[in-house]
Amino acid sequence: MNLTISILGTGYVGLVTGPGLAELGHTVICADIDTQKINSLNKGIIPIYEPGLKELIDKQVKLGRLSFTHNISHAIQKSDVIFIAVGTPMAENGAADLAYVKAVAKTIAENLNTYKIIVTKSTVPIGTGFMLKALIQSYAPNAQFDIVSNPEFLREGSAVNDFLKPDRIVIGCESERAKKVIEHIYAPLVRDYRPLIFTDIPTAEMIKYASNAFLAVKLSYINELSRLCDQVGANIADVAHAMGTDHRISKHFLQPGPGFGGSCFPKDSQALAYTANQYGINMHVVQASIDGNSEQKKYIATKTLSHINRRSDQKTVAILGLAFKANTDDIRYSQAFDIIAQLQKEGCSIKAYDPLAMDNMKKEITTITYCSTPYQALEGTDAAIILTEWPEFKTLDFNRIKTIMRHPIIIDSRNILNGSELIKQGFTIDQLGIHPRVTEESDNSTNQPCHYAQSQDPHSDTPLP
Ligand code: UGA
Repeated sequence: MNLTISILGTGYVGLVTGPGLAELGHTVICADIDTQKINSLNKGIIPIYEPGLKELIDKQVKLGRLSFTHNISHAIQKSDVIFIAVGTPMAENGAADLAYVKAVAKTIAENLNTYKIIVTKSTVPIGTGFMLKALIQSYAPNAQFDIVSNPEFLREGSAVNDFLKPDRIVIGCESERAKKVIEHIYAPLVRDYRPLIFTDIPTAEMIKYASNAFLAVKLSYINELSRLCDQVGANIADVAHAMGTDHRISKHFLQPGPGFGGSCFPKDSQALAYTANQYGINMHVVQASIDGNSEQKKYIATKTLSHINRRSDQKTVAILGLAFKANTDDIRYSQAFDIIAQLQKEGCSIKAYDPLAMDNMKKEITTITYCSTPYQALEGTDAAIILTEWPEFKTLDFNRIKTIMRHPIIIDSRNILNGSELIKQGFTIDQLGIHPRVTEESDNSTNQPCHYAQSQDPHSDTPLP
């Protein structure tokens, strides 16, 4: 079966799914109404930073399996399968905004020249598949089509790898005809022993939210424990390591941090709670995770202020890292927004550095000083916060930093530094739930956090030692 697939929307999801499906051997047309973006893509300019993506796109374009167009109607007409990958941003009330999905459904309906399978890849509220079916039928009563839900589980920063080596592929589907085609699309991955899970459409939609909200709950839980560790003198790194060795818990997503950010967990947790609320169900656990996340961001800002308030009237804080996590230039729902706002409210001036995300942040926050090196950001500051776990922050020249900061205080909200070593060098290091953390005077030789806590990459699949 030789299939042509169109992907509508060239955001993160579309730009990874399209080249990924081309890599599986299909002919793929990526379409977007943003002419400028399509023109750039046709010149080989990729609008997002995603490791391995440019190479994959270049390869597939060269092989003639991948193309980009702003002629959406033409893309739909030429395709057997259409993936909807447009944005579903968070509306004011916490619900997912389906305006783009509905607009694209109308365009699809207007161009259904043959039987087509319409797949939702965007994260859409439970019930959207059925809503789309009714909507398209209302625009095109005689059209032949099937709706499929195929949620994505791509992590930014490792999305290409996640697409080509998924833990599972979830397919919500009502028709045998559509099922066979989708099976064919993913056949190369299934041969690789990646499970294809078939279910109905609302269940597939639910699986996506359930997975993201669960991971968010896990993070809020470990973050909450890190706050308690700070109080009771326990070590969160050891707690997480020991918990993670229990296979029922698993070691993943147990790295405490400044709260979860990004375009998915905050939005999807809110959207799930909103949907449940509409059905009269209170999602206490999900709501607690959302609240705990706000708490964690406040905690980092308050922790920082507790060090500088008593030391200085002039308060300048360096923020190292603006992206919501490492390996991405994405700042959507970055923890930096709330933490910077709270520090500014308390009268702090902010200097910031991020290896990739500064251009994006400059469009959003204009009241901070952007610096072209971490050293420039740190110069003359009363404290620094490591907000994103960029590997380069681990290997900074701390001897130099000691001489350029007004007060050598570092709040390491990702626990990536060797705190004990830096304390010996005269720094005040405050990590999350790791002791000792504050006093330069303390003898910390017997109380170091485990080595694995210092080197654990929260996104790594490498087993802990
Ligand atoms: C998340 C999910 O992991 C993907 O499976 C899903 O497909 C995606 O959302 C989506 O819905 O599109 P992503 O938002 O790229 O992926 O980022 P994650 O790696 O999940 O991290 C989310 C946040 O949690 C980040 O702020 C990160 O720093 C934080 N985090 C993650 C921790 O603080 N500790 C951890 O141990 C792991």
